[in-house]
Amino acid sequence: MNQEDLFKKLIAHSKEYGFIFPSSEIYDGLGAVYDYGQNGVELKNNIKKYWWESMVLLNENVVGIDSAIFMHPTIWKASGHVDAFNDPLIDNKDSKKRYRADALIEEELAKIEGKIEKEVEKARGRFGASFDEKIFRETNPRVLENQQKWDALHNRFAAALNNSDLGELKQIIEDNEIVCPISGTRNWTEVRQFNLMFSTEMGSTADSSLKIYLRPETAQGIFVNYLNVQKSGRMKIPFGIAQIGKAFRNEIVARQFIFRMREFEQMEMQFFVRPGTELDWFEKWKETRIKWHKALGFGDSNYRFHVHEKLAHYANAAVDIEFKFPFGFKEVEGIHSRTDFDLSQHQKYSGKKIQYFDPELNESYVPYVVETSIGVDRMFLQVLSASYCEEEIDGGDGGKDTRVVLRLPAPLAPVKLAVMPLIKKDGLPEKARGIIDELKFEFNCQYDEKDSIGKRYRRQDAIGTPFCVTVDHQTMEDDTVTIRYRDTMDQERVAIDQVKSIIAGQVNLKRLFEKLM
Ligand code: GAP
Repeated sequence: MNQEDLFKKLIAHSKEYGFIFPSSEIYDGLGAVYDYGQNGVELKNNIKKYWWESMVLLNENVVGIDSAIFMHPTIWKASGHVDAFNDPLIDNKDSKKRYRADALIEEELAKIEGKIEKEVEKARGRFGASFDEKIFRETNPRVLENQQKWDALHNRFAAALNNSDLGELKQIIEDNEIVCPISGTRNWTEVRQFNLMFSTEMGSTADSSLKIYLRPETAQGIFVNYLNVQKSGRMKIPFGIAQIGKAFRNEIVARQFIFRMREFEQMEMQFFVRPGTELDWFEKWKETRIKWHKALGFGDSNYRFHVHEKLAHYANAAVDIEFKFPFGFKEVEGIHSRTDFDLSQHQKYSGKKIQYFDPELNESYVPYVVETSIGVDRMFLQVLSASYCEEEIDGGDGGKDTRVVLRLPAPLAPVKLAVMPLIKKDGLPEKARGIIDELKFEFNCQYDEKDSIGKRYRRQDAIGTPFCVTVDHQTMEDDTVTIRYRDTMDQERVAIDQVKSIIAGQVNLKRLFEKLM
């Protein structure tokens, strides 16, 4: 299946099986805003739990908070977001569509990269086991030509970004003959800066109302609570504060489903360290975070680090963890060494001393900060796209059938166990409900009695339920059931009182945490 088709299928599947719905759908939707359905919210909560517990349970020096979305507007002046949280935008005069100028150029770079990868894959197929990718990349004329093109464009683009040179961004778009995907023309406006923060007013009268912003990142809620947490928790540096919460950005290009949304959720952790040690901690958190992703078992080659060409105004080192989505490698998480920028700025703008007395050094300083920041929704998309699978299986009548299965890591699955009476009589439904009553305090269980067993299995496969238990007439005689495993479709007969331990071992987050130690 090609990747474009896969992506379309993921979107349709998400809706059909209650994972994600377009927001306000009966009013034709609202751009780049989505709602999570009955299965989506369970999966999302499990992802958040995986992150939260890996931060605050596994690290005794990381604690959590939950700060308000509304914050004093001066916070956003101090953080630099009022003046610098901008995207360069460009309009096509014919289609009237608006684009991010940097995204248009990035797409051009991805196209060249795609040509190189196509050559490599073609050659791999031709040469088979004797293929030496390194030598091929270093010697093939077409690959070399495209690589040179990529390097030249990339260097020019990075310089334009670093110098915030909007004229040069426009020139790059013109020189590379980049066209609007809708109109197909090159009739572009100038490139302009566009601030991404949403604002609203707080207060009841026009005179007294205060312009406030919907937070574009959760991090500032952590910075402004640094002193509260450090003092009330008697925290010693190095220590971290973690938070999960909503963030809002008026994205210009809001496409690609839940990859880029206007309302989304972040899981951020600010780690406060002694100045001068921040780059060591940056390396440590880089490794810790990539391990967290890889523990899910989606394949190590689907991840890569991307070092930032242009550092944000607050950072002295920054790297993204990219995942191979159906539309290519894209950022899921950012790890930034944010220096003492934020705390110093809040110290300056609030007039309050924000420092740490280090008893080992016998001196006070503004701590430096290493941040890990991951989007819940992007993580959700990662999990969904890595788990979606279409398999050809035996149709039972000698023909072939297609099974759609979400091979979700069991600890993340929305429903852990489905319990199904073979038929709706002879006491089987009551027996099935009895099993659920026993186990519902342990795992999310679902009762299903509608349609044939085969159809019920398929429904559970489609939402990624790792275990199904079937209650039949034999159950009534000897208290055994059939347990069916999602991935292998194997079935075995087990005693009812074994079911809990079979499932518990697989669905516990501990299974993932063990891989992180
Ligand atoms: N506090 C740092 C910060 O906010 P960022 O790279 O702008 O850094 C961090 O965002 C993460 O938040 C990204 O890696 C991504 O996963 C997620 N994110 C950012 N913008 C998003 C959007 N419009 N829609 C969905 N997720 C987004």
